[in-house]
Amino acid sequence: MTKLSVNINKIATIRNARGGSEPNVALAAVNCEKFGAEGITVHPRPDERHIRYADVYELKDLVKTEFNIEGYPSKDFIKLVTDVKPHQVTLVPDPPEALTSNAGWDTVKHEEFLSEVIAEFKSHNIRTSIFVDTNLANIEGAVATGTDRIELYTEPYAANYSKDRDAAIAEFVIAAKRAYELKLGINAGHDLSLENLEFFSKSIPNLDEVSIGHALISDALYYGLENTVQMYKRLLVK
Ligand code: PXP
Repeated sequence: MTKLSVNINKIATIRNARGGSEPNVALAAVNCEKFGAEGITVHPRPDERHIRYADVYELKDLVKTEFNIEGYPSKDFIKLVTDVKPHQVTLVPDPPEALTSNAGWDTVKHEEFLSEVIAEFKSHNIRTSIFVDTNLANIEGAVATGTDRIELYTEPYAANYSKDRDAAIAEFVIAAKRAYELKLGINAGHDLSLENLEFFSKSIPNLDEVSIGHALISDALYYGLENTVQMYKRLLVK
């Protein structure tokens, strides 16, 4: 079964626009779980423009499903994650000023760095995942880092879905097959939506988890959070 992890960064972005505590990030997390989400994802960035480090500490005891913290493994991030001890940490190579994650790791070039960081997280019993594109060299390189899982960067799939979905999915099918052979768990995320999620889920067997933020929180404006979480869950192959 593929788990739906809701990325609640956008809730924090709206809250931060007015400087108060509405909408409430902790309540949104608890409600996502109540409505059926199987995980909560946060992506704190160094400038704290979305989720703040303080939010992550607050969520530690509130999240009852799977807590996933994503980010670039800076010293501060590593401290945060080892303090909070989420179920999973997802390592993303984004520079601090990036609007959103826009590439996966070059796992060959960064093997030593990733291996060290992953060993540190694993010594705290935190499952690790690293964000990668479908380049097989990066997937094969992921094994050497000791990571438990990879997260496939799905932006290129989402961008090409409406033009030709079979062509858009092809490289993801090959990459997921290779990851499975190498005994890596498979997560996926970025720009997944009500439009493109079902085909992705049907095409990629052994998909452990999707993490979805922007489209899901935007859809919740129209359909409400409870309906929206359920709509996304229905699109995942059981
Ligand atoms: N996975 C990673 C590594 C991300 O950085 C993001 C965006 O923060 C997502 C998944 C979710 O992407 P989206 O907000 O487009 O659903």
